[in-house]
Amino acid sequence: MTFTVTNHKTGTEFSVEPSETILDAATRHGFGFNYSCRSGSCGSCKGLLISGSLESPTEPQTALSEADIISGQILLCQARPSTNLVIEAVELPAGSSLPIRTLPCRVTALEKACHDVMVVKLKLPQNQDFRFLPGQYVDILLRDGRRRSFSIANWTSIEEGLELHIRLVPNGHFSGQVFNSLKVRDLLRFQGPFGTFFLREDSDQPTIMVAGGTGLAPIKAILESAFLDKTVRPFHLFWGVRNARDLYAHDLLNQWVEQYDNFKYTPVLSEPQENESWTGEYGWVHEAALRHFPDLSQVDVYASGPPPMIEALKSAFEDAGLAIERLYFDSFEYASDSA
Ligand SMILES: Cc1cc2nc3c(=O)[nH]c(=O)nc-3n(C[C@H](O)[C@H](O)[C@H](O)COP(=O)(O)OP(=O)(O)OC[C@H]3O[C@@H](n4cnc5c(N)ncnc54)[C@H](O)[C@@H]3O)c2cc1C
Ligand code: FES
Repeated sequence: MTFTVTNHKTGTEFSVEPSETILDAATRHGFGFNYSCRSGSCGSCKGLLISGSLESPTEPQTALSEADIISGQILLCQARPSTNLVIEAVELPAGSSLPIRTLPCRVTALEKACHDVMVVKLKLPQNQDFRFLPGQYVDILLRDGRRRSFSIANWTSIEEGLELHIRLVPNGHFSGQVFNSLKVRDLLRFQGPFGTFFLREDSDQPTIMVAGGTGLAPIKAILESAFLDKTVRPFHLFWGVRNARDLYAHDLLNQWVEQYDNFKYTPVLSEPQENESWTGEYGWVHEAALRHFPDLSQVDVYASGPPPMIEALKSAFEDAGLAIERLYFDSFEYASDSA
């Protein structure tokens, strides 16, 4: 049976097919809601259930606390209606929901950027219309049916293909293949674009960007696009890694500092080596950002990287006055079949 979902905030109405999630149905109808992981872990798709009921969840909804559940919060990426529903959720501007495609691609380069990050370049078939927004991600579709999410790290013409920054995860199924057996000219399949981690054009407030490790990838694409568009808003990027050898794009970022007056960059090391002659910032990257910006009431924040970094940042930045609707994040959750 098909049900209707109405967004009380905007009056938007759309139908949901049996067993379809609210998020999938909204995307199919061309409506955009915030989301990132699509697996119930990151919480960026939270909305409020005002009336109606849902099917019992099939996946653990780790992003919802007891208090969230009591107050009627739901995860749009997991919620499947069992009646007509009225919800309340922030809706994205028209044009932010692009068609999702499944395409083959060929590996054109494998560049080891540092000891545990591979820059993988992928060429798409000619004459295929693949559109994405800088900051979005794709799912690599593996032969056994599993999928792995990676952010698109570049914003150039589609003829130049896609660039991914893939960190080697200990015992990682796909990242292990990337480091050990993937070769130039191999074919892969992917699906995308996914996610709503892109620059909001409705603001010219100073923008703080916080990246952890390969969380730099979507931020690099967003910055490349902003520089190309000659965006004047100020950007300050804080990039956290363990030690100096992990700063795999340090030269490029320093070059951008020279090139663009509105760009600042602060690298932050959490576990510097004893013999490292490092004179920069130490500690957790979000704490370094707070040392520079103790009052966050007049800024926008874009953050991407490991889930613990995003969780710590959310509460610390809210305490420093950040309006939660001005925080945009991509939490690099692990694939649900990983554990
Ligand atoms: C929206 C989104 C965008 C992402 N973008 C990127 C990106 O641009 N670059 C990137 O490197 N990663 C990115 N990730 C994370 C990446 O998808 C996962 O790390 C993925 O599980 C790696 O696949 P794998 O097959 O190598 O490891 P898996 O086989 O999935 O994992 C093997 C084991 O390692 C653990 N594990 C998995 N990932 C991590 C991790 N990151 N840190 C610590 N332990 C882990 C798992 O729990 C499991 O036990 C993104 C994730 C999301 C949701
Ligand atoms: S919890 Fe729904 S997108 Fe992450």
